[in-house]
Parts: sequence; C-alpha cells; structure tokens
Amino acid sequence: MLKSVAFDKTNAFKKLKSHHKTISPKHLRDLFAEDADRQRKFSIRMGDIFLDYSKNRITTRTRTYLVQLAEECGVAEAIEQMFQGEAINATEGRSVLHTALRNRSNTPVMVDGQDVMPEVNEVLEKMKNFSNNVRQGTWKGYTGKSITDIVNIGIGGSDLGPVMVTEALKSYAKKGLNVHYVSNVDGTHIAETLKGLNPERTLFMIASKTFTTQETMTNAHSAREWFLQSAMDPEHVKKHFVAISTNATEVAKFGIDTENMFGFWDWVGGRYSLWSAIGLSIACSIGFQNFELLLSGAHEMDNHFRNTKLERNMPVILALLGVWYNNFFDAQSQAILPYDQYLHRFAAYFQQGDMESNGKYVDRSGNEVSYQTGPIIWGEPGTNGQHAFYQLIHQGTKLIPCDFIAPANSHNPIGEHHKMLLSNYFAQTEALMNGKTLEEVSAELKAAGKTDAEIAALAPFKVFKGNKPTNSILVKKITPKVLGSLIAMYEHKIFVQGIIWNIYSFDQWGVELGKQLANKIYPELQNDWPVTEHDSSTNGLINQYKRWR
Ligand code: F6P
Repeated sequence: MLKSVAFDKTNAFKKLKSHHKTISPKHLRDLFAEDADRQRKFSIRMGDIFLDYSKNRITTRTRTYLVQLAEECGVAEAIEQMFQGEAINATEGRSVLHTALRNRSNTPVMVDGQDVMPEVNEVLEKMKNFSNNVRQGTWKGYTGKSITDIVNIGIGGSDLGPVMVTEALKSYAKKGLNVHYVSNVDGTHIAETLKGLNPERTLFMIASKTFTTQETMTNAHSAREWFLQSAMDPEHVKKHFVAISTNATEVAKFGIDTENMFGFWDWVGGRYSLWSAIGLSIACSIGFQNFELLLSGAHEMDNHFRNTKLERNMPVILALLGVWYNNFFDAQSQAILPYDQYLHRFAAYFQQGDMESNGKYVDRSGNEVSYQTGPIIWGEPGTNGQHAFYQLIHQGTKLIPCDFIAPANSHNPIGEHHKMLLSNYFAQTEALMNGKTLEEVSAELKAAGKTDAEIAALAPFKVFKGNKPTNSILVKKITPKVLGSLIAMYEHKIFVQGIIWNIYSFDQWGVELGKQLANKIYPELQNDWPVTEHDSSTNGLINQYKRWR
C-alpha cells in the first residue's frame, strides 16, 4: 500500500515555503549572472535526451529542499512499489504495471504470485505476426484483397496514445497502409472517416479495455453496419474486425472471433495502454521492429527512473519543478510546446495522461486536500503557438511554466527550415528568461529615432519582465526509441507528482458521473414529451432540443 503523507505538513514543505520568499524576488537573469556554471548544474542527459532545467526559478538549495520533499513523501519507495507490482491503484484494487509491457529485460514481474512476462510476450508475438501479415498483404479481406486502410475505433486511452504515436512516427509509416482513428460518438467522425474507404480493403480495430464504452461501441456497431452493407454475410466480419480488449465475453457477443482478439490486463491503465495490444495500430503502421524500439526507449527511461538518485532523475526533477510552481508560485497550468510538427498531438495526449491522473481533490487518507493538485496541461507545436498564445506567456498576468521540446535533427531537412525552427526554439526560452528591460526598450526606440516623449509613452508596452520559467528538452531525433523514452519520462513525472500530492493517480472516478447522467438522459430523448425531472436549465435545454429537432 502507498503510504499517506500530508504533503503540506512535511518539513521540506515548510522549508520551501520560507525559501520561496527568498527566491521569488530574484530574477533568472541575475541567477545566470551569478553563476557561470548554471547549465551544467541544472541539466541531465539520458540516452539521446538532454534536459536543461537551468532556466527555472531555483538555486541548488531549492533543489535540495525539493528532493527532501520527494524523500519525505516516500517517492523512492513508491517507485519500487509500482515496479514490483503492488496494488498501488488502491481504489480499484489493481497493480500499475505498464512498465511490464515494455520490460525488455524480461525479468519476472509478479502479480498475485504469478510472473506476467510470459503472457506479455505471448501477446507481443501475436501482435508481431498479425502486423506482419497486414503489412505484407497476407491478411486478406473477404474478397481476397489485401488491407489498405485500418480504422482504430476507441476513445480516451484507447485512442489518444495510438493517434499521438502514429502521428509522431509518420515518417516510419508503411506507404499504402493508411491508419485512421475514430473516437467521438458524434456521427460525423465515423461518417467522414469512412467516406471513400473500400470495405473490401478496410480493417477495423475495436480498441476498448472494457468493451462497453458507449462511444466506442456505438461507433463499432455503425462500422459493422457499414461493412455489412457491402459484405452482406456476418461471417465476413472476422476478416475485417479485430478486438483489443480485456473482455472476451463482450468481444464474442459483438461477433468478433476471439482468435482475433488481442488481450491485455486490468493492471494496464487506459491512459498508459499504448504499450499493450492497444498499440496494434501503431505496430501495423510503423512495423513491429519499430514498435519494439518504442518499447525499448520506454524501458530505458524506466531503468533510469528506477535506478537514478532523485536529484539526477529526469522524471523526478520535472515533477518537483512542477510542484514548485504549482504549490509555491500558484501557477495554474503547464504548457507543453513541441517544436516538431510530428508531435502535434503530444500535448493533447498528456492532457489525458496528466489531468485524468492527477485531477483529484481527495488524498490517500480519504480527506479533501488543502492545496492544489494537478495543473491544466495545454500546448501546441511551435512555431504556430508563437503566433497564437505566446503573447500571454510573455506579457500576460499568469505564470505559465513551459516545456520546450525539440529534435536536433529533422526527418525532413528541407532547405533552412529546421535551423529556422530551432532558432525560434532557442530564442523563446531566452526571451522568456531575460525579458527586455525599460533601458533596453528606451535605447531601441531612441535608435529608431523616437523623441523622448514618444519613448516615455511607448516604452511601458514594450517592456518584457521575463523571469518566466522553462525546461528545454532537446533530443537527437524523434525516433521510435527516443519517443518511447519521452513518453515514459512524462508518465513517471505524473506518477511522482501524484505521490507527492498524496493522491491516487491511477483511477478516474471523476469521468463517471457524466457518463451515468448521459445514460439516464438518452432514453428521455427517444420521444417528444417535454421533460420535467431535471433542474430548470437542463429541462429547458432538452425541451428546446426536442422542439428544434
Ligand atoms: O475517460 C475514461 C476512460 O475510462 C479512460 O481512462 C479510458 O482510457 C477510456 O475511458 C476508454 O475506456 P475503454 O478502453 O474501456 O473503452
């Protein structure tokens, strides 16, 4: 069992509270001026990932206190408890073992006295054979034709991870094999996806841990109907529908041959499941060897996370910096800004990863917390973000810690594009850190020929205070291995923060209420009678809908 430590009652918390008073008036510019060695002190390299966290509002003393906080909150023990398969997801009575899915060392991982690795390897072998057959064209549809289009139907963790990775590794994708993702229960999503697809050459992957999720099952049934309009015979379903699930009974009920079912286990959380059979669409797109490299990259980060002392541990440091801003500077959000177009779904993916994990207000003793927990995660790829929301980061009233991610090498080295992209990547963190002083602005305006009166009027608007914290994550290239490590790095960061905030990061009861109410309202929409049993707003909205439909 994870221990319950009142985070805000720890000694380290108290030290950090008073230390914050010393640090908050300091400017990053001065911290850099005082210490020429700052980058070396505040950077970590792991494989092909380099994390420079020197542009944060910290000193070595801050780091010492933050590490003490992690120690007092039991981070090191919790890491071991997770890797060793303890049921740390206590509210659901489950182990948390996405690390076993990518355990390339193959050492035993025990759950309830049983090694799960043989089963993990068996499913991987099945994924390998299947993805090879689809890619080589030996998997045939009902008219004997090979597959050209895969449609993965899932939502949340059964969608976001596969979409994000497939997009991120598009340059490894097999030509002529298109992978599509349908998640929204809005009929437009499936209708638009199926337009132009040939049922004889389309393979549906129904990805759902529970195989009961309303959105996924509705889309799966519509896909089946669409397919049968051409194929006619339900027998053909088995050549065109496979399932990725833990629920064999529901899979069989749907009409999918359980031979074509790829299993996983209750110790794989939905938002941590891309490493399991949920990643089948990824394996088909980039090939199984590349999928294995993705797993290897994650495994490398797992080893780093498990074996590196806290102050040199990338996920731990990122987590502690997040706690520093969230709980001492009152930052409300955290931006993830990848300078790589292939990573355009990366922030969206970690919106679920982080916000579904740490969006909790009850601590591990069952009491309401008296401090802030998970931040709002958001972001878009640079440089698009620069021309959209960076104004607020630079000159707004909110403190927004940002992670800047970029590859040193592009998959598409066209002309000067990558150098330009990276010059923006470097410039932004420099600008956010230094800002621009009144003296600098005045000198600039003077040089442009402005009068003293014009300078006095204009200058305040052109001053940038700077002192905005950023992490720079520079990677060699977005390869499957590097991507695997990057994803695992953020997963573990989320884990560490959950441990420190004393919450349970692996359940998601908060998404239940809306689902329950939707199930109650759905039958009420079947007739035209006005509804009266909700509040006046909900009644009014439903009745307006009924009048208009
Ligand atoms: O959003 C809630 C959630 O339970 C996620 O955690 C999960 O990834 C998603 O729904 C989909 O669930 P399933 O894979 O069972 O369809």
